[in-house]
Amino acid sequence: MLRFLMVTPVAIGLSVTFVTAESTIDVTPPAPGSVSKADGLAAWSRIYEVTSHPRCSNCHTGASDRPMWSGPSYGKTRAHGMNIRAGESRMGVEYVPCATCHVTNLNASSTNETPHTAPQVAAPWRLAPIEADWFGRSSQEICTQLRDPDRNGDRTLEDIAAHLDHDVILHWAWNPGGGREAAPYSLQEHVTDILAWGTAGFPCEGDT
Ligand code: HEC
Ligand code: HEC
Repeated sequence: MLRFLMVTPVAIGLSVTFVTAESTIDVTPPAPGSVSKADGLAAWSRIYEVTSHPRCSNCHTGASDRPMWSGPSYGKTRAHGMNIRAGESRMGVEYVPCATCHVTNLNASSTNETPHTAPQVAAPWRLAPIEADWFGRSSQEICTQLRDPDRNGDRTLEDIAAHLDHDVILHWAWNPGGGREAAPYSLQEHVTDILAWGTAGFPCEGDT
């Protein structure tokens, strides 16, 4: 079970609530120089299995602003039903907001168990940024995006690991409920692979 940490800074006339997952995993990178390029590439191939899995890529749809559906409930992968579009906001504010159905829910797990219910997590549901374009992309395409600070939200290796640790949206992908297939491996194994890949110098297939 995830536990949630709530921090509520109150400024004059303004109250903002941040909800992030408490750290439950080890995000310490291996010692510099301790991971070979071959081991880094092996870690990458497992990372690609995760990032290209529908539980992740269905929200990482790049320039398309349409989230995808796949799994036993839907048969083949298809565009999200009800003609849902995320718009430039990536949250559907220009059309029907994601939050209309994907309500931000601090106690989401029971709701997510019900088949055909819109998944709900303790953070605003939305599509990933355009640059994090993974749906239908090759190993090399996702690899070169994820190591590029200009396209990965200006994140270092440590920042990527910390993001994976804290982002409650993607934690859902390992516990999606509703009969959906979970993303492969576990959050800890995925983060361990990310740390090994980065320590090996972010090798991608096809690098010269
Ligand atoms: C419900 C939609 C959704 C799902 C499902 C999802 N993501 Fe994301 N992802 C996002 C959003 C939104 C952001 C931008 C978050 C931010 O910048 O704070 C993001 C950003 C990221 C980033 C930051 C790096 C970058 O290039 O922007 C990583 C890494 C990531 N996601 C990994 C994953 C993995 C791994 C999975 C599956 C286990 C996953 N995501 C599933 C919506 C999603
Ligand atoms: C009108 C209600 C509604 C709106 C609005 C909506 N969704 Fe959904 N969404 C659903 C329902 C219902 C499901 C579950 C369908 C099922 O499992 O049969 C779902 C499932 C999903 C899934 C899981 C699919 C999978 O295969 O893992 C993602 C991702 C998703 N929605 C993204 C979004 C995004 C992003 C937005 C906003 C741009 C959005 N949705 C807006 C109702 C909605």
